[in-house]
Amino acid sequence: MICLSTILVRSRPFISYKNYVAFFSTQRKRKVVLGLETSCDETGAAVVTEDGEVLGEGLRSQKNIHVRNGGVIPPLAQALHRECIHDVVQKALDQSHLDIKDVSAIATTTMPGLALCLMVGLEYTKQLIAKTNLPFIPVHHMQAHALTVRLINRVDFPFLVLLVSGGHCLLAVARGVDDFLLLGQTLDNAPGEAFDKVARRLKLQHHPHCQGLSGGQSIEKLATEGSIRLLMGKGTSLPKSRSCDFSFSGTMSLAHWLIGVHENHQGITKDGGKHLDNLPDICASVQHKITHHLCTRVIRAINFCNQTGLIPESNQTLVASGGVASNSYIRNALETTCSALDYQLICPPPRLCTDNGIMIAWSGMERLKLGIGISNNPQDVRFEPRYPIGEDISSNVVKSNIKVKAIKFW
Ligand code: KG4
Ligand code: ZN
Repeated sequence: MICLSTILVRSRPFISYKNYVAFFSTQRKRKVVLGLETSCDETGAAVVTEDGEVLGEGLRSQKNIHVRNGGVIPPLAQALHRECIHDVVQKALDQSHLDIKDVSAIATTTMPGLALCLMVGLEYTKQLIAKTNLPFIPVHHMQAHALTVRLINRVDFPFLVLLVSGGHCLLAVARGVDDFLLLGQTLDNAPGEAFDKVARRLKLQHHPHCQGLSGGQSIEKLATEGSIRLLMGKGTSLPKSRSCDFSFSGTMSLAHWLIGVHENHQGITKDGGKHLDNLPDICASVQHKITHHLCTRVIRAINFCNQTGLIPESNQTLVASGGVASNSYIRNALETTCSALDYQLICPPPRLCTDNGIMIAWSGMERLKLGIGISNNPQDVRFEPRYPIGEDISSNVVKSNIKVKAIKFW
């Protein structure tokens, strides 16, 4: 009887038996990346294979603590990351039935994010690398949000991407794993921040139907029964700018004004225990205003991409991700907008829209497969609290002076 290794060695006479065994085992062994996320208020770790299988995950959210404090307090967030990072990583490895030395590389968010939080993930990674000598792939948090979709769906480059979260809001063209063109971004607040601040002003953290929910989730939940009319025709965001930039500070001020007016009418004090009796209408109106602004920018971005040929006709896809993209009202509005313009909308499942370790592991894997972005000197890698997603071409958008006609999604 001829054994398998003999056949293999015979069929490839120029490779020694020893090298062939090594070759054969690497062919069978799938690449796996351990990803670590600590850029804001989630401590996440995951082990993902080259074909997109999630072997294990650990995730610890600080959201409830920050909701109680009225926002993320960086030193507290840092302490909470430090407290659990080891357990979170260990959980991801245990679920994968892997030891740290079995993974092919470690990928960690190093930009952008809160300095004190990024520091925790990076320091922990450097310790792991000092022990194991594994390759290190630093990951851009927003690029990772944009690439997550490719773990689940077949989405080829280039595609348009809208990233909406508690700290960011941007529109970009993803041309490759590490090749992005920025069309526009928020000039002040992020939409998640607007949701969170309005939710806090409405005291939703004490509302019986909103326990354990983020500000955005609370507003979405209460808005389902409400009317969108309270803010219609009131205020405009960046009226003169034909850009893909965003602004949410006007909507936040309008919302605060509206809440004050209704509190006066209903004899409710800002700091008292009572809630407004028309919370659903206020939530629906604020949610609509934010959604409307996002959609007008998406329409302009699609027109710009059509004009410039940045996205070929064969691949007209908008990917929407980030925590706010898990909102169903926003998803439906984007869906209506996209289909009117012959674009398809693809969103990762809500669970992968918010911060997690899977998206970082997958982003690292995309790089590992291409052999790019692997650090030569892991111990010298620094975190970058602010770092652009790619080349900024937002001034080209303004120059093209595209007038947008709103598409009715409501
Ligand atoms: O992506 P993410 O988990 O963290 C950041 O990178 O910011 O996003 C968190 C943000 C929070 O502001 C939260 O209120 C918002 O996403 N969010 C939502 C929803 N779920 C989370 N906003 C609107 N509707 C939702 N369903
Ligand atoms: Zn995020």
